Amino acid sequence: MRRIGILLSGRGSNFVAIAESIASGRLDAEIAVVISNRAGAPGLEIARQRGFPTLAIPAQGREREAYDRVLIEALAQHGAELVCLAGYMRLLSNAFVQAFPGRILNIHPSLLPAFPGLDAQHQAIAHGVKIAGCTVHFVDEQLDSGPIILQAAVPVLDNDTAETLSERILKEEHRIYSEAIRIVLTGAYRKEGRRITCD
Ligand code: GRF
Repeated sequence: MRRIGILLSGRGSNFVAIAESIASGRLDAEIAVVISNRAGAPGLEIARQRGFPTLAIPAQGREREAYDRVLIEALAQHGAELVCLAGYMRLLSNAFVQAFPGRILNIHPSLLPAFPGLDAQHQAIAHGVKIAGCTVHFVDEQLDSGPIILQAAVPVLDNDTAETLSERILKEEHRIYSEAIRIVLTGAYRKEGRRITCD
């Protein structure tokens, strides 16, 4: 398994980090397609410029299941074996999750299960935690809840804003996402319940 389908909605820095890991030979994989629900997503434009197959599939009134059927079809047509969410801002239907069992990854900018959902870095600052970080996890039917593959921690400094904390976390995101993809693609892990042990 080495063909990755990327879903993104925005800036695309995690996608770029993955593409660079592949280009530099640190990650043995291939980007099968980059898909966005937002036609104007900067990440989609970067993917286009770098010559990757791209698709904009706006939701436009489609119901979630119907939209996700189009997504599943597009990913299958491009031969995507592993789906990586990289700032993809839409909830996935159960049907989508079941179409790629154990083969959807997400990156979230908090140490899950703390601060799931939107604005995780802001939630961390507002809560007053001293340590924040990011999590790469398998996607299941609930939001930001599947088995954890890798996490990285960063300190929260007294003068941090959500922006400065986000920057510190993002550096770690770029590092651990490619590493987690490598672990999953090579099958170098074991799963017991929701506990993932990397070999
Ligand atoms: C990242 O913080 C990621 O953890 C979250 O959305 C953001 C996407 O950033 N899921 P980018 O588009 O990869 O730059």
